Amino acid sequence: MRYLVTGGAGFIGSNTVDELVRRGHSVVVLDDLSSGKEDNLAEIRNKITFMKGSITDIEVVRKAMHEAEFVLHLAARTSVPRSVKDPIETNRINIDGTLNVLVAARDAKVKRVVFAASSSAYGETPTLPKVETMPPAPISPYGVTKFVGELYAQTFGRCYGLENVSLRYFNIFGPRQDPGSPYSGVLAKFCMCFLEETQPVMFGDGEQSRDFTFVENAVQANLLACEAPNVSGKTFNVGTGGRFTLNQTVELLAKISGKKLEPKYEPPRDGDIRDSQADITQARAYLGYDPPVSFEEGLARTFDWYRSSQTKPEEKPKE
Ligand code: NAD
Ligand code: UD1
Repeated sequence: MRYLVTGGAGFIGSNTVDELVRRGHSVVVLDDLSSGKEDNLAEIRNKITFMKGSITDIEVVRKAMHEAEFVLHLAARTSVPRSVKDPIETNRINIDGTLNVLVAARDAKVKRVVFAASSSAYGETPTLPKVETMPPAPISPYGVTKFVGELYAQTFGRCYGLENVSLRYFNIFGPRQDPGSPYSGVLAKFCMCFLEETQPVMFGDGEQSRDFTFVENAVQANLLACEAPNVSGKTFNVGTGGRFTLNQTVELLAKISGKKLEPKYEPPRDGDIRDSQADITQARAYLGYDPPVSFEEGLARTFDWYRSSQTKPEEKPKE
């Protein structure tokens, strides 16, 4: 099968591309490298087609879409606080760019588009865990763009018969998540704090909670969403079904690393959700999704990955 992965040089994208290549599929990656890295594709670079370009340019998207059967649309500006600071640019990439991907997919007659949606669509609805039937109520520009992406995908199903599935990922973490930007995911940053012995910063009291989900689980969901029958037009939660507070993640990292660090508490971030936890009943039932990696195991594996990638090749002990 031929897959187009937008955002395929990013964190979740490159992990997904690895698995597609492992299964023998043909893969085209379209990525503007704004946050992704070609290095993330280094091991499989000669087995895929990489195109550097933006989803905001429809002609570029059309070219990348050539002969694609499945599209995994992951390219986006992913940070909540960055969307609060600059909503127009987040809108341009996440909504206009998604519309380009859908139009090009429709015209290229692809079999299905899988859209990387987000748990941020739920906003502050008080009930936990979050079920797909709850009315969405995003509280950040980013959350709005991700929900609009779902609506557009479904609308392309209705108007043009384009098969589509939206996956609301819940705080994905793991190897290759970039720790180096002020907008990076919290666990990537905390792992680096424990490696470099710098103080983790908590925005708020650290009692906010997330259904932190190891990237292998999201990769499984991505592939199932392409293959599962009778799911077009549906939205599924992709999480583990549990939740951990930030304070608990720091305690766990202390155990994993054998180091004790005192967090620094700062005011909460604008647009921040307090608690997030997925009900994954629907994804289990319709996709056969069964997250293989627990939070604790995923965190230990992630910490090990940052530790080993910190060791530069010339410093690595000879085998
Ligand atoms: P990431 O930043 O590593 O990946 C996004 C990729 O998109 C990057 O490689 C980036 O260079 C690329 N990109 C950005 N703008 C682009 C453009 N205009 N044209 C082409 N490529 C562009 O982040 P990620 O965590 O891997 O996120 C992947 C997707 O999953 C995003 O759509 C994000 O909104 C969604 N998501 C992520 C999480 C999470 O917890 N990581 C949760 C919910 C949803
Ligand atoms: C994350 C994703 C977003 C996704 C959403 C829902 C990233 C960058 N963001 O947003 O794409 O759609 O999950 O799954 O991947 N925090 C600290 N200290 C830090 C950094 C963060 O306390 O140094 C706090 C934040 O204020 C927040 C929590 O940690 O309360 C999680 O933040 P973050 O990792 O940025 O993720 P979300 O905002 O939940």
